[in-house]
Amino acid sequence: MARTKIVAGNWKMYTLPAEAQALAGAVASFTGGSLSPEVVVCPPFTSLVAAIAAVKSSAVKVGGQNMYWEDEGAFTGEVSGKMLLTLGCSHVILGHSERRQYFFETDFSVNSKLKKALSLGMTPIVCVGETLDQREANQTEQVVRTQIEGCYDGLTAEQAERTVVAYEPVWAIGTGKTASPAQAEEVHSFIRGLLRKKFGNTAEGIRILYGGSVKPDNARELFSQLNIDGGLVGGASLKAESFNKIIEAAR
Ligand code: 13P
Repeated sequence: MARTKIVAGNWKMYTLPAEAQALAGAVASFTGGSLSPEVVVCPPFTSLVAAIAAVKSSAVKVGGQNMYWEDEGAFTGEVSGKMLLTLGCSHVILGHSERRQYFFETDFSVNSKLKKALSLGMTPIVCVGETLDQREANQTEQVVRTQIEGCYDGLTAEQAERTVVAYEPVWAIGTGKTASPAQAEEVHSFIRGLLRKKFGNTAEGIRILYGGSVKPDNARELFSQLNIDGGLVGGASLKAESFNKIIEAAR
């Protein structure tokens, strides 16, 4: 099944609104109306408005980096999926390893957020991946299985098809250590197998992105693997020049 590739930029806690406008604008000029790959930028909440305005006349989509599963309420400091959607976000990153590590995000909370995002018609990008200790203890498959099972618990195949998985080995995030294309493909193929067990043939249509030190010089080889359907890019998404080259590599 042909899967349209996705190149998504996770800007993490970087960019003030003016910087976001310039960066998103440069990505939008490069992308134009092209729908392949699908291009998504995920600025911090305070820069969403600026980025959304900057990509308006292009095919670039904008996503949040997290959300809460209630629409509104007494939840100080939280931002709901409905708020993101209303602002103009089509995508949302869920369960990023930094949220798991520093903000106690669990598979259970990701599952609640995932169901909410789907009910709003948003596209969730669900992050999974093992730490270095877990990889060295040969626990990669076990860790990823637990995460996929927890995050996707109770979803129908129709819902699962509208999600995107991002496999981000924690040891490759921001370290300059990329998983080799073969190492990444091995886990991507394992993840597709897990999804196939849960959702049958629908799994063939689910995009699985790789994240962890994706750069212009390694993107093409990563993206040419059978089960790698694009990338979730951190550091290299903060400069239009490198992010646009990664988009080019996915074409
Ligand atoms: P880097 O590309 O900076 O390694 O970050 C990856 C990441 O965490 C994307 O979500």
